[in-house]
Amino acid sequence: ALATPHSYAEQQALNIAHRGASGYAPEHTIPSYELGDQMGGDYIEIDLQMTKDGHLIAMHDETLDRTTNGTGKVKDHTLAEIKRLDAGSWFNKEYPQYAKPEYKGLKVPTLDEILDRFGTDHKYYIETKAPEVYPGMEEKLLDTLKKHGLLTKSALENKRVIIQSFSKESLKKVHNLNADIPLVQLLWYEQNQKGEITDAELNDIAQYAIGVGPNYEKIDQAYVQKVRDKGLKIHPYTVNKQSEMKKLLEWGVTGMFTNFPDKLEEMLNKQ
Ligand code: G3P
Ligand code: CA
Repeated sequence: ALATPHSYAEQQALNIAHRGASGYAPEHTIPSYELGDQMGGDYIEIDLQMTKDGHLIAMHDETLDRTTNGTGKVKDHTLAEIKRLDAGSWFNKEYPQYAKPEYKGLKVPTLDEILDRFGTDHKYYIETKAPEVYPGMEEKLLDTLKKHGLLTKSALENKRVIIQSFSKESLKKVHNLNADIPLVQLLWYEQNQKGEITDAELNDIAQYAIGVGPNYEKIDQAYVQKVRDKGLKIHPYTVNKQSEMKKLLEWGVTGMFTNFPDKLEEMLNKQ
């Protein structure tokens, strides 16, 4: 029989503000991250891309098209070019119910700027996106974290930064550079696939990571229990409905990614 999730009683599940409070504000902009923080987010989730001139910026897509008024690949543009773009107006058009005049003209932030703004008393959950497209991305990330005081002994112990990726290679690269940084292996299960994870996979992941991040739709209670029985964390993405949040919390997940951190905070406070 499945053990009750309550047998795992420990600290509260983590509220990971996915691209900030991106349900309410333009993803990966400073106001989105600020709102995520105000709404109870424990971690600011950041997707990284790298510009032509080697700057790390916060953006989900490899292209500028969806979230700015620019076009083309990030890797083909310099930071100066990207800084001229409007990263907020698309949101006002797409989500008129949450539109705000001040979102117009927002800039794409660099990782440096985000860490300057939020400092060492916030927590960051950073994804290396498309690392195969950006050689040197991991080194640059670690240099930036170090510069901002986020790789000190106490920062590492407090898990100020978690690095996540779908790319095992990228995580292993980070692990080889600094084995003390907590890592999370992201996993994706196709629509027609049942979310299943073998002991061998979990044993392998446990060699370099503290946990896994699967898409929540394809997992069940047995999956959550199997991961936790290995002593690994499980942070499913991207959970936006309170009914789903409740179910996952009952299954014993140790955190989740959400575009609506206020909704998750409400569910956590009910526990
Ligand atoms: O990082 C967790 C989740 O964000 C992974 O999917 O595509 O939203 O980055 P994506
Ligand atoms: Ca992500």
